[in-house]
Amino acid sequence: MTEKIKTYESDDIVVSYSVIRCIHAEECIRRLPRVFNPKQRPWIVPQNASAEEIADTILNCPSGALHFERKDGGVREAVPEQNTVTIDPDGPLYVRGDLEITTPDGETVVMKETRVALCRCGVSKNKPFCDNSHQEIHFTDPARVTLKEGWTSEGENTGTLRITPTENGPFLLRGKVKIQGSQVVFREKAWLCRCGGSQNKPFCDGTHAKIGFQSTAGSST
Ligand code: SF4
Ligand code: FES
Repeated sequence: MTEKIKTYESDDIVVSYSVIRCIHAEECIRRLPRVFNPKQRPWIVPQNASAEEIADTILNCPSGALHFERKDGGVREAVPEQNTVTIDPDGPLYVRGDLEITTPDGETVVMKETRVALCRCGVSKNKPFCDNSHQEIHFTDPARVTLKEGWTSEGENTGTLRITPTENGPFLLRGKVKIQGSQVVFREKAWLCRCGGSQNKPFCDGTHAKIGFQSTAGSST
């Protein structure tokens, strides 16, 4: 994965911004427009607010496009204690936690993260991450979650969550995780659809093989 990271610095904080990971959810703009303003250049001016306010705002960036380093001795970004996948209706999988993204064979960790937005419509040009292509193709899914027999809506979701975008197939999640949509389910292993075609979203049902899903098409991996 090659990411172009831009940095914006004040005396108290360094803000880093991944252009390709930003899906324009605009949390930052809504929360702190005097710092995050796409109408100005540069669009991030960390001098316009306290490091505390900027850090609080960045923690709400759902894609992980924004991160920070405090220069004033303030609290660093903590790794969330709980792993959560939130299924966005008609949109991506928002994942938070102690995350490790691996190579498609699951062998090597290529990224450690705390927040990611994962493509589940199948057409992102920045797979495995969302790039808002779901809007262009009018992807629809109501984020329904159906519990199978034996599955539980209570459990633990701590520890490391390893996410493997498998080749031409689903995301394999290994680790304790809470998956939330219309219902909540706790799993220690899950296969989540990323081709957009499963009839059992958010879970994979094998459709990717029938439709010839190519995970490398437009991928950054
Ligand atoms: S909150 Fe994150 S994803 Fe949303 S516009 Fe800001 S940088 Fe982009
Ligand atoms: S990845 Fe979509 S059905 Fe398997």
